[in-house]
Amino acid sequence: MKCVLSGIQPSGQLHLGNYAGAIRQFVQMQHDHEMYIFVASYHALTSGRDADALRGNTRQVVIDYLAFGLEPSQTNLYLQQDVPEVTELAWILSCVCPKNLMDKATSYKDKVAQGLPASVGLYTYPILQASDILSVDPDLVPVGEDQRQHIEITRDLAQKFNHCYCQESDDVFRLPDAMIREEAGVLPGIDGRKMSKSYDNAIDPFMDEKPLRKRIMKIVTDTTPVEAPKDPQRCTIFQIFRALAGPDDTRTTDLANQYRAGGMGYSNAKQALFELIMDLFGEARRRRTELMTDPSYIEKVLRDGADAARAKVSQVTRRARDAVGL
Ligand code: TYM
Repeated sequence: MKCVLSGIQPSGQLHLGNYAGAIRQFVQMQHDHEMYIFVASYHALTSGRDADALRGNTRQVVIDYLAFGLEPSQTNLYLQQDVPEVTELAWILSCVCPKNLMDKATSYKDKVAQGLPASVGLYTYPILQASDILSVDPDLVPVGEDQRQHIEITRDLAQKFNHCYCQESDDVFRLPDAMIREEAGVLPGIDGRKMSKSYDNAIDPFMDEKPLRKRIMKIVTDTTPVEAPKDPQRCTIFQIFRALAGPDDTRTTDLANQYRAGGMGYSNAKQALFELIMDLFGEARRRRTELMTDPSYIEKVLRDGADAARAKVSQVTRRARDAVGL
């Protein structure tokens, strides 16, 4: 059985980009893969300094993972801080990481340009991410396009470590592959740029119905008149619809035909997207309300998940410690 690992930062409410680019794949893969899905709480320290907000967001990401359909019987769900071996491994990796590998990372520059403090933690963020990944020997890492470079850095670091310390036959680290959905790798937000917490353009599928509808109605479109045929591929509403329903779904092909035929206004497409979201996430919305009332269940899921993750991670860490002479 192939092994899968991925994680999300608890830096705010999850949005449709996180779902379409990442969580949807986790849910689909969990029945025939060995799954490690975690909350990247240490990574979130690079962007916020509000302890109560971090505690709240961390629990909320777990609740949302479960609401979206992750099943603890199929997926090991844990918090990064509950598996301390990962940070140990990050140090070991940092000692083989050439500094210029970090200099090449684009996310550091982007985040500093957005106003985040230029801390050493932010600078070496990709090493901790490599450690998250390599710590469970995964084959696949399902993520959105913005994480592609981090997976490449992970592979580079694994190779570098193996080259420094191992004979070919007893490599310590396996090289994982990124798994990126073509139609959802970069889900646009309501302003057409990549959907992101930091651009204030995100759609939260758990919003109350009225504000959710209002948010969708705000999606920016061009000014093509109602009667004119429209190109669905160039429209943000359609891109979101297609990523959520799937490119081959009849609802997607029907909507594309309506665009091309003309006579359909963008407000109709927005209404169709709103209805799709209510339909796709109806069950998740109900489940989330229930889960919010059961904190002891969440704690149990996290305890079990951390135990399972530590069992695996400690084997990998032991290999790395042995290889370097600790
Ligand atoms: P984060 O928390 O920013 O995002 C979580 C996941 O959601 C994806 N994503 C998107 N996909 C498509 N379109 C979008 N608009 C969009 N916005 C976000 C991200 O690509 C990601 O898959 N560094 C990671 C967290 C992390 C991690 C890891 C991921 C830490 N360690 C190990 C994988 C493996 C991050 O900041 O993701």
